[in-house]
Parts: sequence; structure tokens; C-alpha cells
Amino acid sequence: MTEILHRADLKTLWLLGRPVGHSLSPLIQNTALSHLGLGIVYLAAPVEAEGFESAVRGLLALGALGANVTVPYKEEAFRLCDSVSERANAMGACNVLSFVDGKIHGDNTDGSGWLRGLEEELGCDFPKRALVLGAGGAARAVVHSLLQRQVCEIVIFNRTQERAEQLADELAGGSHRLNTAGYEQLEGHLSEGCLVVQTTSAGLDGVASPFPNLKSWPEGAFLSELIYGRETPFFTVVKTLGGRGQDGLPMLVEQAAESLSIWLGRPLEEIPSKLMLQTARREVAARFLPELER
Ligand code: ATR
Repeated sequence: MTEILHRADLKTLWLLGRPVGHSLSPLIQNTALSHLGLGIVYLAAPVEAEGFESAVRGLLALGALGANVTVPYKEEAFRLCDSVSERANAMGACNVLSFVDGKIHGDNTDGSGWLRGLEEELGCDFPKRALVLGAGGAARAVVHSLLQRQVCEIVIFNRTQERAEQLADELAGGSHRLNTAGYEQLEGHLSEGCLVVQTTSAGLDGVASPFPNLKSWPEGAFLSELIYGRETPFFTVVKTLGGRGQDGLPMLVEQAAESLSIWLGRPLEEIPSKLMLQTARREVAARFLPELER
């Protein structure tokens, strides 16, 4: 790794957000970049709100290849772009910026990354019904991908019902059904083989979980959690009831792999996503397990 820093022709990729100190992206991306043997490094920079636009334009001026953008700047990144992909347009947010010919192109790999991580786990046995918990930016990416995947029945649950309805209205189209409900109705909507996607950080802030105390978990239903590193109270309940699920690491890795494929102009199959996931899993175990054992 140090030898690469001696190169005068070094190219750079960046992560911009606030905070970024905890991020696994530099580890995941640099693992892939060194595996591919490229003279490119990936660096994380914490950016204050008033400096975000200058940071992006500075990277463009410095000849960086691109940047990932994370919380809380994905919407601002979208507004700064000269052009955006169709899916970024549907999200109104970008997590990938590419600097090409002095212009900023924006894309969004959050939804597609989430979907690939899930398909990898479920194989061709993809659910036909999905219950999405939350109605923020992450839920938007998930619902958009579910619609692309032709999941025909989707229910969006949220603490603030109007937000769920707004999301359903914005994304509805074609023959797809987008319904909304409150968390108290969750148990009644669970069905055999359905997919439940938990997109909120509820229960991790010490405040009581807003989800009802489930008495059972249906046969073959699968929980996709977007959180990684810490098990949410909801995931613990589902496991206790004998349910299966996946944390947010596959999504993190897959959105990163697709970002890399965009910047490098290489097909996704050439990006070592399995190695990236193994590395991320090891790091999470090293970082978070000692905390849990304390
Ligand atoms: P993100 O982009 O990560 O989805 P967001 O746009 O701020 O972040 O959305 C956060 C989501 O988590 C929302 O669905 C929010 O519910 P509200 O719309 O009702 O605010 C949900 N959320 C966050 N903390 C929550 C809590 N303690 N209980 C219930 N829902 C919570």
C-alpha cells in the first residue's frame, strides 16, 4: 500500500460525508483496488455542510476519478451534477459521482446494490410480496429496486404515515400495488415467504422500538436489514422466532463494487466483490464483537 503512494501518477477516489471516520468503504475499496493492481487509492474526507460543493469541485479540479457520497450529502450531490443516470433521477440522490471531461456525472447504486446482495442470498427464490419498514431515502432506493424486480405487492410502513403515502404516490406506476400502513398493522401483513426490509435505525438510539412485539414469524419469510455492525432489536426478535435474515453488509459491498465498476469502466463481474465482502465481515467482527462481549 505504501509503495503506491510514491507514484506521481496516482489516481484518487474519495468518500465524502459527515462523519466518515467509521466507514468501511476505504477498506473495502482499497482491498479491491490493490487486488486489481491499479495505481488508484480510495480516501475518505469528512466535509462540513458549507464546504461540500467546494470539496466536489476541488476533486474535479484535482483530476480525481470520482467519489462516493454518503449521509448527509446524497441529495446535494444530485443537485451539483451536470448529468445523472435515470435511477439517480428517480432517487433524487447520488451516492456515486464520476468526473469525466471536467463534468460531474451522478449515479445511484444503493438500490441495485441492495438488490444484488439479496439475490445472492435468496437465489431465484425471490419473494413476490415485500413489506418495507421506513419511508426515507434508503426505503426509496429499496422500493425502486423492488419495482424494477417486478415484485408485485409492496406495503410501505412508517411511523409518519404521510411520508409513507408520499413515497408510495411518487413511485407508484404500472400494475404495481404500493400500499401503506402503520407499524401496528405489521403482524397482520406478514405472510409465508414474504420479504421484510427494515430500512430505519429504529431501536438503536436507546429509544424503544416502534415495531410491535411479534408473536410469530411466518414460514420462509426473510428479513433484510440495512443496518450492519450492530444487530437491531427487530432482527433479534426475528431470530428468536426462528426467522432468517441478512444484515446490511452485502448492500454496502455491492453498492461499492458497482461504484468501482462505473469509475473503472469495467464489467461488474471483474470487481472482486466476494473478497470485498469477506474483508468487510472480518473487519466488522474485529471492530464490533469485542464491544458486544464487554
Ligand atoms: P435514510 O436516508 O437513512 O432512510 P431518513 O430519510 O432520515 O434516512 O429516514 C429515516 C427513516 O427512519 C424514516 O422512515 C423514519 O421515520 P419517520 O419518517 O416517521 O421519521 C425512520 N425512523 C428513524 N428513527 C425512528 C424511530 N426511532 N422510530 C421509528 N422510525 C424511525
